Amino acid sequence: MTSRARPPAGLRPFLPDDTPLLAEIFRASVGELTSDDYTPAQQAAWIAAADDEEAFAARLAGELTLVAIVDGAPVGFAALKGADAIDMLYVHPAVVRQGIGAQLCDALEKLAAARGTTKLIADASDSVLGFFEHRGFVPQRRNTVRRHDEWLANTTVQKPLAAAQASKQGSTP
Ligand SMILES: CC(C)(COP(=O)(O)OP(=O)(O)OC[C@H]1O[C@@H](n2cnc3c(N)ncnc32)[C@H](O)[C@@H]1OP(=O)(O)O)[C@@H](O)C(=O)NCCC(=O)NCCS
Repeated sequence: MTSRARPPAGLRPFLPDDTPLLAEIFRASVGELTSDDYTPAQQAAWIAAADDEEAFAARLAGELTLVAIVDGAPVGFAALKGADAIDMLYVHPAVVRQGIGAQLCDALEKLAAARGTTKLIADASDSVLGFFEHRGFVPQRRNTVRRHDEWLANTTVQKPLAAAQASKQGSTP
């Protein structure tokens, strides 16, 4: 199925009650979609970020987090940190390649532009790098970050946002 084969997902802001399901999506997404790029030990260290659900909820609530809904249930989420950084973007493996990641990213780009941002950045995992490049993000530098006892590589990517984007695309989700 392609993104054009079914209606777009609904998008809404994060609610605290979403936390357990978003933690599940996070675990499934990392566990099933990143194994070409990261070892099982690295994936486990990454997934551990959701072990403390209270801290995970605080992170989601502290950022501008959008939740994608299909058939009444969350299937993905993305978070804008401050005005100019995509901090999280995770889609459940059962619904990948259906346009949901693009919908979430489109919405964050509009929200960032509405906040006056001219350059949006993200620290992209090796598994999401192609997705961001496909959307016009340009790699800036490689990073290595420590998660528990593991070191994970990612790439800082950047996309210029058109100044007119906020006013032209108007309604934010
Ligand atoms: C990367 C991710 C968010 C993509 O979500 P998705 O819903 O499958 O993406 P979409 O269906 O909206 O894809 C939009 C476009 O990007 C392309 N694309 C999707 N994933 C891609 C990838 N990993 N590499 C290259 N292109 C990709 C699609 O083919 C599609 O192209 P089209 O517009 O020409 O049809 C999802 O695979 C995911 O959650 N990955 C694992 C989690 C992760 O590493 N998160 C990053 C944290 S920094």
